[in-house]
Amino acid sequence: MRKVKLGLLGLGTVGSGVLKVLRQNAEMIKRSEGLDINVGWVLVRDKSKKRAVEIDPSVLTTDAQVILNDPEVDLVAEFMGGEEPAFTYIREALKKGKSVVTANKEVIAKHGDVLEREAEKSGAGLYFEASVAGGIPIIKTIKRSLQANHILKFMGIINGTTNYILTRMSEEGSDFNAVLKEAQRLGYAEPDPTADIEGLDAKFKLSILSTICFRNQVPLENVYCEGITKVTAEDITYAQQLGYGIKLLAIGKKNGNRIEARVHPTFIPLSHPLCAVRDVYNAIFLEGDAVGNLMFYGRGAGDLPTASAVVSDIITACQNQGGYHHRTGMDQEDVIFEQNWVSRYYVRMLVYDRPGVLGEIAGLFGKHGVSLESVIQKNRGDDASLIFITHEAHEQFMVRALEDMKGCTAISSIESMIRVER
Ligand SMILES: NC(=O)c1ccc[n+]([C@@H]2O[C@H](COP(=O)([O-])OP(=O)(O)OC[C@H]3O[C@@H](n4cnc5c(N)ncnc54)[C@H](OP(=O)(O)O)[C@@H]3O)[C@@H](O)[C@H]2O)c1
Repeated sequence: MRKVKLGLLGLGTVGSGVLKVLRQNAEMIKRSEGLDINVGWVLVRDKSKKRAVEIDPSVLTTDAQVILNDPEVDLVAEFMGGEEPAFTYIREALKKGKSVVTANKEVIAKHGDVLEREAEKSGAGLYFEASVAGGIPIIKTIKRSLQANHILKFMGIINGTTNYILTRMSEEGSDFNAVLKEAQRLGYAEPDPTADIEGLDAKFKLSILSTICFRNQVPLENVYCEGITKVTAEDITYAQQLGYGIKLLAIGKKNGNRIEARVHPTFIPLSHPLCAVRDVYNAIFLEGDAVGNLMFYGRGAGDLPTASAVVSDIITACQNQGGYHHRTGMDQEDVIFEQNWVSRYYVRMLVYDRPGVLGEIAGLFGKHGVSLESVIQKNRGDDASLIFITHEAHEQFMVRALEDMKGCTAISSIESMIRVER
């Protein structure tokens, strides 16, 4: 039986969940993993705050150095959130040779490479399973069970808040703003929802996931990001009529040395398994060159699901004393980050109700090399709308076509452009 002294940074939702799991499954972990894990210290901001778990007040501290300088602390687990001071504390722990487990997507997406190098130097390990898709063990699976594959493509629903909003909009026909308010009331969306609804949370996770999948650093600045604030109830209705659902997808593709990583609202066929992922659930659908298609489904947040991933990392860290570096062995090829990807597109526009309009607009698409798969005409008079689904086209051609259409007298306004995946 190995005794382990753990230092926790943070005792909020995730920290409390980790304590609960460590306590409720302590005997099993001792028996099957040979580890007696003890929480020696817990860093908080406010020692007097009421906690979701009972805690011996003598282990609480507001001074991170107490934990980082304790030679008996074998391992540090961070769930404070935010870039600083979390990054500095993780780096200091690694420098001192203490392995670190973190749930912090922002720190890993922005500084994962620096921290990996620090860990390699000191021989410590760095683990961040909970930083992507909460309870779904996706990172370990890719690193430990899919090593025999080139991962060619993945699509993920990796933000629960936006999936909840889009699900409610689809099932109730409600507007974005009404559903967002309801999500905030239920605690599914933060009082400041920007990071979720603008896609930034998914962008952090996509940067991490594509780095792991494609064995190449995929920096945040190379991840395209568009949130769900412009998705309307009308778009969702038309999507359904055309046989699609709308999801905020994080998409990664690798073709030769070209990598694309993009987060945006996406039409996917109603028959695609990702379309069945409702409410706050997360899922990742990926394609390996040997294994074919795989899908992972589960809770992307919450105290216990996230703690499941964190405690698994803690156990792995204890068993890999020499360190386990996710990024070691990455391909060092010259990668091109694709901005001009190929996609199909849904475009909805309000048009003037007069003869020849459809031909004029179809001509503009054609002029920019975008061919049309289907067209629907809706309503008459001031509400006359045209809804197009295009064949595959390069993003730049599509952008230029839409730019050109701004000067077209047949069009009153271009209401939406949403990418379509099959
Ligand atoms: N919540 C989830 O379901 C979930 C899922 C996956 C990943 N994550 C990630 O896990 C991390 C933590 O999330 P959370 O929801 O548990 O956050 P949280 O509930 O806000 O908890 C944060 C904890 O960190 C402590 N803390 C924050 N800044 C501090 C500072 N400067 N000094 C000392 N203590 C500090 C807070 O202390 P006080 O309590 O004294 O204020 C609190 O206990 C984030 O990186 C998040 O992205 C969360």
